[in-house]
Formats: sequence, C-alpha cells, structure tokens
Amino acid sequence: MTLHLDPADPAFARDPHAFYAAVRELGPATRVTLANGTDAWLVTGYHQARAVLTDPRLSNVPAPQTARHTSAAPSTESPPQARSAQRSVLERHMLNADADEHRRLRRLAAPAFTPRRVDAVAARIGHLADTVIGGLTAKLRQKADADLVDDFAFPLPVLVISDILGVPEADRLDLRAWTYRVGSPAATLPSGQAARAWQSLHGYFTHLIARKRRHPGDDLLSLLTHDRTPQAPDDGELLAMAFLLLFAGYETTMNLLASATLLLLTHSEELLAARTAGDPGWSAVIEETLRHASPLEGATWRRTTEPVDLGGTVIPAGASVLAVLAAANRDPRVFAAPHTFRPRRYAPGNRTAPAHLAFGHGPHVCLGARLARLEAGIALPRLFAALPSLRLATAPAVLPWRPGLLVRGPLTLPVRLA
Ligand code: HEM
Repeated sequence: MTLHLDPADPAFARDPHAFYAAVRELGPATRVTLANGTDAWLVTGYHQARAVLTDPRLSNVPAPQTARHTSAAPSTESPPQARSAQRSVLERHMLNADADEHRRLRRLAAPAFTPRRVDAVAARIGHLADTVIGGLTAKLRQKADADLVDDFAFPLPVLVISDILGVPEADRLDLRAWTYRVGSPAATLPSGQAARAWQSLHGYFTHLIARKRRHPGDDLLSLLTHDRTPQAPDDGELLAMAFLLLFAGYETTMNLLASATLLLLTHSEELLAARTAGDPGWSAVIEETLRHASPLEGATWRRTTEPVDLGGTVIPAGASVLAVLAAANRDPRVFAAPHTFRPRRYAPGNRTAPAHLAFGHGPHVCLGARLARLEAGIALPRLFAALPSLRLATAPAVLPWRPGLLVRGPLTLPVRLA
C-alpha cells in the first residue's frame, strides 16, 4: 500500500496528528508519496526519531543539484530541478553539513549562544517585550481587536534576533515575507515567488555583510565578518549563516509564542495555574507547548548514505527521511495522554515526562534553545499580566495553520479584550 500526503492541505495543516498516529502504527519508518510525486520516509516514533537524528548514516548534506525536499528553509513540495545559484549559496549552512564541516560551522556561531551571552540579553528582551506588548495594548484599546501573530509573536523574536545579528529594524517586514516564502510548500505560493524570495534574501544579506565590513557594530555578523582566524567563514558561508540564524531564530520562536498563547487562551485553568506558580509554572507551560505544539513539525531532511535498518524496517540508500518531531512528541508509548495539554508533566520535581524533541537531538540539536526559552519565559507572563482580559476573537477550530512539514503554528490569532 502506498500512502499519499499533501502537506499543503489546510485540513492536514490544522491537525496532522491522526495521520501521524496511523503512520506510527505501520512501523518504525513508513514510505509516503508526497503531492509533488517524490517519495519520503516518515519516522514518527519517539525512540526511532532520536535514532535517526544521531545516526551518521543519515546525512544532512543536500543531494547535489536537485531540489531535495527541504533544507533549513525548505520548499517541501518543489519539483526536482536545479537550485538557483543564490539558493545554493544560502543553503551552505551548518544544518546542511555533516561531521567535521558541521562542527567547524557550528563552532563559529556557538560563542554567541553560550549561557552567559544569552542570559546577558534578558534585560534587552524585557525591554523589547514591553514595547511590543505596549503597542498591542494600545491597538486593542483603539481598535477592539488585533492579531497576536502580527502584533506580538512575530515582532518580538524578530527584534531579538535582529539585535543579535545586527539587522536593521526597518528591514524586518521584507525579511518576514521572504523567509515565509522560502519556508513554505511551493504549491501554496504563486509561481516564481519562492525563487524571487531566495534571490531577495541573497541580495539583502550580500549588502548587509558589505555594510558590516565597512561599519562594524557590536553584533554577531560584524564579529564574523572581521574574523581573521584560519577557520573564518568565507563570503558564501557568512551569507548562509546569516540566513540560517535569522530563519531559525524567529520563525520557530514566533510559533512557540503563538501556540503557547493559543493554548493558554483555550485552557484557562492552565493559565491560572501558571500565573499562580510564577516562573516554574511558566517554564512548565513553555516545555509543554514545545512538546504539544512543536514549532518545527519535522527536523530537516536526512538522506541515507547506505541502507539503514530502523527497528526491522530497512530504509534503502539514497532515501529522504523525515524525523517528524511533532509526532515523536505525541508518541503514546512515551507520553501519557499525548494529545492533552498538561504543563504539570514538566513541573519541577515531576520526572514522569521524558525530554521532548522539539529542539531536535544529537549533533544538530538547536543552538538557540536557551534563547527561545528565555524569550518565551520573559514575554508570556508580561503579556498576560498586561492584558488579563485577553480573549480569542474567533473559534479555534477555524484558525488557519501554516502549511508544510517544517514550521508549525497558527497563521493568525485574532484577539480582543473581554
Ligand atoms: C522555539 C524555538 C526553536 C525551536 C523549536 C527550534 C528547533 C530546532 C531544531 C528541531 C533544530 C534541529 C533541526 C535538525 O536536526 O534538523 C534546530 C537547529 C538549530 N537552531 Fe533552533 N529552534 C528554535 C529557536 C532557535 C533560535 C532562537 C535560534 C537562534 C538563532 C536557533 C538556531 C538554530 C541553529 C543555528 C540550528 C542548527 C544547529 C546545527 O545544525 O548544528 N533556533 N532548532
């Protein structure tokens, strides 16, 4: 039996979990045919996903000259074709590298993400969060309704990562449009739009890096452009790093904030519990949101370099494999009541829930996990303290969701004050 999957289907985007549960029952890895006609192997169990993410026989390096299903910012449904030169340059980042090359690229960015460096931006995040929430509050009071994605979940992470990278604030709307397009299934976009977005991103970062060379600031891109060590990135690697950090730094965190807010607005008892418990309550909400609403639905695609036996199912050499993090995080063999939003499973001292896989696992485990947790831990309590009467302005069942197999979250979240 061949299973078919159309990741652009709005009903699948809204709730893919019944499909993933059925696939999990079929075995450790299941071959599906995607809407563009290509085959992929989905891995939906928790232990099997961990195995895939640590197995060196599964490579992160894209197959040469064909549009593989995805990369860090994939067009999951693009037909096999040559990548544009610009796209090829932007895709030469650490998530698309293995072994020594991966370690070299990761080491270049890692100093910006040490606990000390990340914790040092807490005060700045607090200030940015207050500014964003102030704007949202004013809008709600004036216009009666607002969109929590556009007015809260998007602007905050983009301001934070722009600060760290040194991206001017004025450019963030363009960047949002371009990264949305390169991270969405091509079938959901007008023809040629994804290709133009890759071109725009390439042009944008080329100019930005040239500017950093001439006028360095106190930011990560300036630091990297002035690295004179033998391991220093070349121009192409710099472009790719800037693109990855921007994309990874806000698309994911935006969806963590949007999903957490949606879950709290639809689970008032959990909102009350978090507000009563303070920091430990909010961090339990954040961990449970990461598990329940995994902002990266799938890890990036891996390719088998030889046949791989995964718990009795043999995946052939050269196959595209997707560890579906959102499905692994709802594996009923590992998580009790997996579809229930239950923050207390991550309450301090409660060791019943295993670690979720929302930040991945193994050598490519998320570099920005501490930053994402910090942002959410600062922003969510401030949002609900400033706006205790916040309510959804629409039924949750009709909210549109981000299509595709990579990024997961609501596209809009209309809210009002009670
Ligand atoms: C809720 C927010 C976030 C989630 C859910 C998330 C999730 C992930 C996951 C699952 C991976 C591994 C993908 C794979 O193995 O294919 C990853 C890698 C990565 N993330 Fe995050 N991420 C988040 C926020 C951030 C932030 C704020 C940054 C900082 C800029 C960041 C930077 C990175 C980088 C650079 C990698 C590549 C690491 C490598 O290849 O070694 N992420 N992230």
